[in-house]
Parts: sequence; C-alpha cells; structure tokens
Amino acid sequence: MACKINIDLGNGKQMPALGFGTWQATDAELENALESALEAGYRHIDTAYVYENEAVIGRVLTKWIKDGRLKREDLFIVTKLPPTGNKPSGVEKFLTRSLKNLNVDYLDLYLVHTPFTFAERGEDIHPFNENGEILIDTSTDHVAVWKEMEKQLKAGKTKSIGISNFNKKQIERILSNCEIKPSNLQIELHLYFQQNELVNYCKGKGITITAYSPLGAPGIGVLLKKLNAAKEIPDELANETVKKIAEKYNVTPAQILLRYTVQRGIAAIPKSINPTRIKANISIFHFELDNGDITELKALDQGSSGRVCDFKFFKGIDKHPEYPFPECL
Ligand SMILES: NC(=O)c1ccc[n+]([C@@H]2O[C@H](COP(=O)([O-])OP(=O)(O)OC[C@H]3O[C@@H](n4cnc5c(N)ncnc54)[C@H](OP(=O)(O)O)[C@@H]3O)[C@@H](O)[C@H]2O)c1
Repeated sequence: MACKINIDLGNGKQMPALGFGTWQATDAELENALESALEAGYRHIDTAYVYENEAVIGRVLTKWIKDGRLKREDLFIVTKLPPTGNKPSGVEKFLTRSLKNLNVDYLDLYLVHTPFTFAERGEDIHPFNENGEILIDTSTDHVAVWKEMEKQLKAGKTKSIGISNFNKKQIERILSNCEIKPSNLQIELHLYFQQNELVNYCKGKGITITAYSPLGAPGIGVLLKKLNAAKEIPDELANETVKKIAEKYNVTPAQILLRYTVQRGIAAIPKSINPTRIKANISIFHFELDNGDITELKALDQGSSGRVCDFKFFKGIDKHPEYPFPECL
C-alpha cells in the first residue's frame, strides 16, 4: 500500500506524508529493511549524515533505479547537515558528501539537523572530551548558515531546504532574514508531545512539519539504554485509548498513532527493520479517524513534559547558546 497522501511544500514540490526513518539500524539490517520499505511503497526516505548510513541507502536506491523498478523522480530523499558542519563553511562540504554517499545528483530536502554546532575535530561526528562532554562550537550563526543553504538550493543540489529541532524564536530569526523560507521543520512529535503551539505557528508561516519519533520515541529508548542513561520512555503503543481505537478500525496501535499524525497534516517517518511492521506502518490510508477519536487522542497531549529527545545524551549540550529547549534546562 503506497503512501497516498502528499504534503504540499509550498514551492511547487510535494512530500509523501508517510516516510521511512533509518536511524539506528546496522547496514545489513537497513539494506533488507529498505528493500521491504520500497516494496511496501515507501518513497520518502529520511536519513542524515550522522546516521552514517547514506552509502547503504545509496546502494539500494541505485539498484532499484538501475533495474528500472524506480525512477529518481519517484523518490523523496531527505538528509541533514551534521552539527559539526553547522557553520557557513560546512554546508556545501557536507551536502556534497551526502550526494556522493547517496549516489544522487540532487536531494529533495536538505535540513539543518540541529540549531547547535559541535566543534569540528577531524572526521569525528560526535567529538566528546575525556569527561564524556560534547565539544561545542558557540559561534553558530543561523542566518549565515541559511544563506549557504539557499545557495545550494539555487545551485540545484537540493529541491527544498529546511531545519530540524529549531524552536520558534530560532525560526523567527531565519524568517526575518531569509530570501527563501524553510519548507519544512522536522521535530520530535507524537501522541504525548503533540507540539500544538509550534505546529500552529509553522502552519501560519507556510512551513510544513515532519514528525520524528512518531511512535513515541522507542528508538531513543534504545539509544539511552546503550548509553546507560536512566530515563523511562512511556509506551504510547500500550495506551488504552489508542488500543481501543485500534480495535475499532481493526488496525495496530502504531497505525493509529501514524494515522493521527498524518490526519493533522503532518508527515511521519517511522523507523522499523521488521518487514511486517514496515508494511503496516504505511498501511494507514484505508481508514479515517472520526471526530470522536480525534478528540480523545488530542486530550492525551502532555505538553512539553512529553518531550523525550532533549539531546542531553550529549553531556553539556545545554550550555550551547543555541540549545533549543529552554523548558528542559
Ligand atoms: N531530526 C532529528 O533530530 C531526528 C531525531 C530522531 C529521529 N529522526 C528520524 O525519525 C525516524 C523515526 O524516529 P525514531 O527512530 O526515533 O522512532 P520511531 O520511528 O518512533 O520508533 C522506532 C522504534 O519503534 C519500533 N517500531 C517501529 N514500528 C513499530 C510498530 N509498528 N510496532 C511496534 N514497534 C515499532 C522500531 O523497532 P523495529 O525496528 O524493531 O521495528 C524502533 O525501535 C528516525 O529513524 C530518523 O530517520 C530524526
């Protein structure tokens, strides 16, 4: 079941509302998962330079294009400028590397991954010091970086440009100083963290939203466990209201969470390496939530306390002047 709904990016381009997340899979897992995803009809693929998986994605996509199962223009490929490259000199350099890794001539959407910058230390994407703290570069200048993003768009290296993890104030600053506005903001967004204020603000400015961790951030739970960070991630898939609505439509709780997001006009990019889940996660276009369901799901928002991904797994990141989530300090 292919993704049947597109989101209008406001610049003549369309983004499939249901995309495939690719963070935290090994190359072998991702190779199989991407095959399953393409077979299931996913055409929007979300990656990032820091996921270190662009090359495997490039290999699978090249194979599909070469043997005629896909055309480049069928795909919507998203990748992101790494925090170490979040400075004017980093934009062209890292975008060029991502194009090479993915083996494509252009991206569909290039995002500034984070509003903060890490210090550049060779090829280290996560430069930690001996105390386990992340090395930050406080010279971040969003307006100067954005000008370089606009240049890449004009040069045809990407069809659209956007940002990720920026707060309202940071977005406002770009909007007041840009020639081409961001087409998309990618943020953590799920049932317990519905981001109504930021979503409404962006909608008013013609900026589309993509929800990352749309299943309630279980993937971040996996990362925190690896880092031995004690943080309990609430299981949204086990929520009784979600389970009740899932039974009503004879679908899974994950399908309800994804359908709810897409029905709000927001793109969602669930990650899975399990073929059955991959298929189910995109099969959300044969039913529609009614007003009663929407009222019940809306009421489950926990506001800013629902945030899981505060980036504090990068010890010391909140000392960066552009750390975006002051409510977490
Ligand atoms: N811009 C950013 O800073 C940023 C940050 C985080 C994520 N992202 C992007 O957003 C994508 C999604 O976010 P995410 O990976 O954090 O979280 P997610 O998609 O909400 O959750 C992924 C986790 O849920 C499991 N899962 C997937 N489908 C399921 C289903 N139907 N039922 C039960 N469990 C299911 C997956 O396990 P299995 O693989 O075993 O199925 C995986 O552990 C990422 O892959 C990445 O592309 C962007």
